[in-house]
Amino acid sequence: LTNAFIPIVTEDGSVTYYNKEFSDYYHSRHGAVREARELYVLTAMHFFEQTFGHQHSEMTVLDACAGVGYNTFSFVEYWRQHRFSGMYDLRILMVDNDPKTAELMKTAAENYKDMQQAASNLFRHGTHTEIVQGTNGVRQIFIKRMQADIRRFYSDEVFFRTIQNSWQFDAVFHDPFTPSRCPSLWCEEFFQSYQRCMKDNAILITYSNAVPVRAGLFAAGFKVKPSMCPGKKKSGITAYTAGSAKSDALWEAVYLFTSGRLPYRRPEENRPKAADETAGCIEQRKREINDLLLKNPEIKKIKTYLKQYLKTAAAEKNPDRK
Ligand SMILES: C[S@@+](CC[C@H](N)C(=O)[O-])C[C@H]1O[C@@H](n2cnc3c(N)ncnc32)[C@H](O)[C@@H]1O
Repeated sequence: LTNAFIPIVTEDGSVTYYNKEFSDYYHSRHGAVREARELYVLTAMHFFEQTFGHQHSEMTVLDACAGVGYNTFSFVEYWRQHRFSGMYDLRILMVDNDPKTAELMKTAAENYKDMQQAASNLFRHGTHTEIVQGTNGVRQIFIKRMQADIRRFYSDEVFFRTIQNSWQFDAVFHDPFTPSRCPSLWCEEFFQSYQRCMKDNAILITYSNAVPVRAGLFAAGFKVKPSMCPGKKKSGITAYTAGSAKSDALWEAVYLFTSGRLPYRRPEENRPKAADETAGCIEQRKREINDLLLKNPEIKKIKTYLKQYLKTAAAEKNPDRK
């Protein structure tokens, strides 16, 4: 374990890590495994059941920034425990650019019954295949772990085409570090690349509902809605591809009428290095906001009204909360 990974016990007893390089945590401190189970897995399963019922034969998931694997392990655990095991084959692609996270997967798997073999196969061979006797016949679990820079989804067309040909996703778990620390993984172009490798009726789930993140998703053509996020005052985000038309009207209003409509965008300079890219995304958004406010000073007022409106609406809904 390098000192980039400082283990921390979260509220549900599961361990997360603090990454010194990014000054950020790998999971919610309200419960690392709980976040995986409640935000990513339950949201995906709810969507999947509502959208397809039992009409699907295979579910394909992208675990983007898979880290030590909690999202994948929780998903497989749920899939095994519920009747879905009888309905679908399950294919999961885990992508993370840090080889050290693979070493930690064995420890992570201790939080789950029956996941040790999968963790060890993923570490040693990069894949895990398992045949399961479901309630409705024999089904297969296939997991592939890929060490790759997910930024290449938009910056390297070759990598993207490789994925696109063999993987079209029903669900994407988007779990990078905080947007302000690595905005290039939360920018409009990045979300557009997701669109291209997601099915028409598919779901993207993430923990951040920061304004530029919503804006980036909207701009890339997703329908965006709040989703439950354990222990957090604010919710996470669920974003749907075009086929599943659901969106939160208030969020759309914020998107349309305030400077919040401006997402992080890939810096204009061609292919900058990661560090420059972070600064570049942030600087570019600041510049675009300044320009917009100069041209449309009334936007500031709209923002103030909207904030006030949201505050009043929240107080009416929840009179006891200060
Ligand atoms: C918040 S943690 C994800 C936690 C993870 N879902 C888990 O259960 O452990 C963010 C992850 O993003 C990975 N990451 C950061 N930049 C990346 C990039 N450009 N491409 C792929 N993975 C990246 C880090 O290595 C880290 O594992």
